[in-house]
Amino acid sequence: MNFEILDIELDKIEADCKITLVIDKNMTHRWISDTDLLTKVGFKAQSEEVVYLASSDTVYAVADSLESDDIRLAVSNALQAIKKSDYKSVKVGLYTKNCPPINARAIAEGILLGTYSFDKYKSKKERSSIQTVKISTEDYNGKIYNIDSTKKAIDEALIIADATNSAKDIVNTTPFDMTPEKLANYAKSLANEIDGLDCFIGDEKFLKKENMGAFLAVAKASSEKPRLIHLSYKPKNAKKRFVFVGKGLTYDSGGLSLKPSEHMVTMKSDKSGASAAIHIIKAAALLELPFEVHSIIGAAENMIGGDAYKPDDVLWARNGKTIEVRNTDAEGRLVLADCLDFAQDLKPDYLVDLATLTGACVVALGEYTSGVMGHDSGLKHSFLKSAKKSGELAGTLQFNRYLKKLLKSSVADISNISTSRYGGALTAGLFLDNFIRDEYKDRWLHLDIAGPAYVEKDWGYNQTGASGAGVRMCVYWLKDFYYQMNNVHKEVK
Ligand code: BES
Ligand code: ZN
Ligand code: ZN
Repeated sequence: MNFEILDIELDKIEADCKITLVIDKNMTHRWISDTDLLTKVGFKAQSEEVVYLASSDTVYAVADSLESDDIRLAVSNALQAIKKSDYKSVKVGLYTKNCPPINARAIAEGILLGTYSFDKYKSKKERSSIQTVKISTEDYNGKIYNIDSTKKAIDEALIIADATNSAKDIVNTTPFDMTPEKLANYAKSLANEIDGLDCFIGDEKFLKKENMGAFLAVAKASSEKPRLIHLSYKPKNAKKRFVFVGKGLTYDSGGLSLKPSEHMVTMKSDKSGASAAIHIIKAAALLELPFEVHSIIGAAENMIGGDAYKPDDVLWARNGKTIEVRNTDAEGRLVLADCLDFAQDLKPDYLVDLATLTGACVVALGEYTSGVMGHDSGLKHSFLKSAKKSGELAGTLQFNRYLKKLLKSSVADISNISTSRYGGALTAGLFLDNFIRDEYKDRWLHLDIAGPAYVEKDWGYNQTGASGAGVRMCVYWLKDFYYQMNNVHKEVK
């Protein structure tokens, strides 16, 4: 899809179809020209309502407010309504009170995220006919804004939305087509394509050399061999160093603590943290952010077999701690334990892990919200603020000392599961905390994306399947760091 930004009146722009957002119940603003017809077809301007009027080649879509996420949703709903048309081009103006770049960015993101479809395995591809989106810098009050800042914002939006959509592609790809080795090849190909992005791949031998006993145990029963993927982006004069760590279980059968079959379907999505970490660094490099960024991915398959790791095994993690395995389905934390330890050798200013870690997090927050855990409330707060702007839902879950005690083991330093069936998202986070060194405790965030990473129904501007969870909130967070360092205070909502 091709975007054109024009600083001319919307009505003077040529396009096959026009998107008009309805932003108040009275349907009054100057781009609403079909008032009688809208009333006739029963349009009430209710939340998420959309009407397509073929007679005037216009789609009317309700935005609940001018907040970015309401705008994303409204433009996505509008495009959904003309999905089957043969329009080649659409045009849309701005809906803002005082910040055109933020509004333009939301429009572009809404369009790209909302029109994503995954048809790799469909013999008949049903692709949208729309090739060109024309965005006027005129707003609904008739004011025409400066084109440069709008263009820049849209360029950024395209990078972020493309990264999110590519993250969805990787997650939606089958376990056969996205093994640890293939994921590593994908990371390598990105590094070849993108300036400044480097990639190191560690194989089983490397993991042994690094004493990654926990990671290796999880991978042992699979004929697909594990990989540690290390992507790095090191611009000159980088101001901070961020390290992202992603859980990359290309399949999670549960291992010997085998999942019941209805829980096993969708477990190709257990590589969502990895896919997010790969595409966060991709976006950071393309945005040329002045930060050093690393993504460490633990890629493995959790399978069964004669050589599978077992409940009752005791594993030696890279940091020297021993772990009693009481459930082989709590494998993500084992892979992450070693990857987090590896990540801390890079001396990060901020360390963030992303993982589809627990079903308990989905129970706690619902399937659309990611869990944010960590020790530093300032850090959590700054992250939640950026997540909100990005349109991703995130909520904090609070660690406490009592839950931490539930991970005690009588045979090893720690058990891989809690003795209680409650608070599973937090006890998984607290397990990881055992692998965070004292000096990094306040620099670490754990993001449990098990809910939103993969949802088997359409929601908002997300389609059935992968949503690219983690990418937008982390990239917005990085961008906000940059704005704060440069004292740009106007980047709001
Ligand atoms: N990959 C799963 C978590 C998961 C569940 C992700 C649902 C997405 C949707 C993880 O490896 C797992 O199986 N966790 C167990 C932990 C338990 C054994 C302590 C769980 O959540 O049941
Ligand atoms: Zn599992
Ligand atoms: Zn898992």
